[in-house]
Amino acid sequence: KQVYWKDRLGRPLRDLRISVTDRCNFRCRYCMPAEVFGPDYAFLPRKELLTFEEITRLVRLFAVGGVEKIRITGGEPLLRKDLSRLIKMIKAVDGIKDIALTTNASLLAKHAVLLKDAGLDRVNVSLDALDQEIFARMNGRQFSVKRVLEGIDAAEQAGLKVKVNMVVQRGVNDGQILPMAHYFREKGHILRFIEYMDVGNTNGWDLSQVVSKREILAKIHKEMPLKPTDPNYYGEVANRYRYLGTDQEVGVIASVTDSFCSSCTRARLSANGRLYTCLFASEGTDLRDLLREGVDDQVVLERIHQIWSGREDRYSDERLSATHLPRDQKVEMSFIGG
Ligand code: GTP
Ligand code: 5AD
Ligand code: SF4
Ligand code: SF4
Repeated sequence: KQVYWKDRLGRPLRDLRISVTDRCNFRCRYCMPAEVFGPDYAFLPRKELLTFEEITRLVRLFAVGGVEKIRITGGEPLLRKDLSRLIKMIKAVDGIKDIALTTNASLLAKHAVLLKDAGLDRVNVSLDALDQEIFARMNGRQFSVKRVLEGIDAAEQAGLKVKVNMVVQRGVNDGQILPMAHYFREKGHILRFIEYMDVGNTNGWDLSQVVSKREILAKIHKEMPLKPTDPNYYGEVANRYRYLGTDQEVGVIASVTDSFCSSCTRARLSANGRLYTCLFASEGTDLRDLLREGVDDQVVLERIHQIWSGREDRYSDERLSATHLPRDQKVEMSFIGG
């Protein structure tokens, strides 16, 4: 019989987000600004990364505690060699019902069929603009919109479900809200607008750059009327809407103005094997050394259970409150995978 570990606020453990590399071929300003993540930046050396065998063992143990959804992230996860081998290994774990990948899609056209065959269920593709100039400025590396759209098409043709994520930043790409909405409504993919978040310590976030859920919805509603729909599952981060008179869905992820910590069921594993109980945590707990010491499953299980049981993070709920002190030692998003 399945058990569900609960944290101190009664939230069950259901999802594990696994970062497989801290590297990325993009330099999005809001995530890995090129001045900080330059040629001399010390990324994790290979021997510090969890092996696929270690990751799969952890997935099996997390599944004992209630995890049924796995998300593979990075950095850019498709930079990790032979990723489809890992997908296949995770797919074979009892209790895992859904495996998804979050990617910038620059390498997706090349890998889509392999990933699907390995058992990947779906991909969430990050794309912040359709306008080439704006996109190039945002990704910091002159990558083309065309290449991402080709990745999306390849994923769809391979039979993967596709969602698109757009981080909205005032004065940068807010003019792309409507073009993106139109395009993906026609294409039939779910587009989710993401409020710009204060992740990490390097993106220079301030509240004035956040375009709120309200503003985003108002802008779309004026041209294409929307009606709200129920969540797909308990704790879904996106609020969902349909374009009136259609089945086509669109979403908003409002971590800043309408936080969702009270139903947050997500644990995060970094590429070097640290467990984080919040996207905004400053430090995690190492699991890799424990694995490499050669301890029994039971010991690892107890460690994970203990960490989840003690969890009381709710950073986004507290972010805008008067008593909240800004944290300056948060883990970087490219390290923990969003
Ligand atoms: P679905 O399973 O498709 O609903 O995916 P998802 O939205 O949970 O994952 P995805 O990787 O596509 O993330 C979309 C955005 O939501 C990113 O900006 C994430 O950083 C953000 N996000 C996901 N989970 C959390 C969370 O627990 N807390 C916060 N604050 N943001 C989150
Ligand atoms: N705020 C909101 N979303 C972000 N992402 C990366 N950095 C931020 C940020 N500062 C998004 C990426 C990707 C997802 C995993 O998180 O664009 O879609
Ligand atoms: Fe890379 Fe994604 Fe971060 Fe952009 S947001 S730098 S694509 S990890
Ligand atoms: Fe979960 Fe932390 Fe995000 Fe709140 S801020 S939803 S606790 S990851």
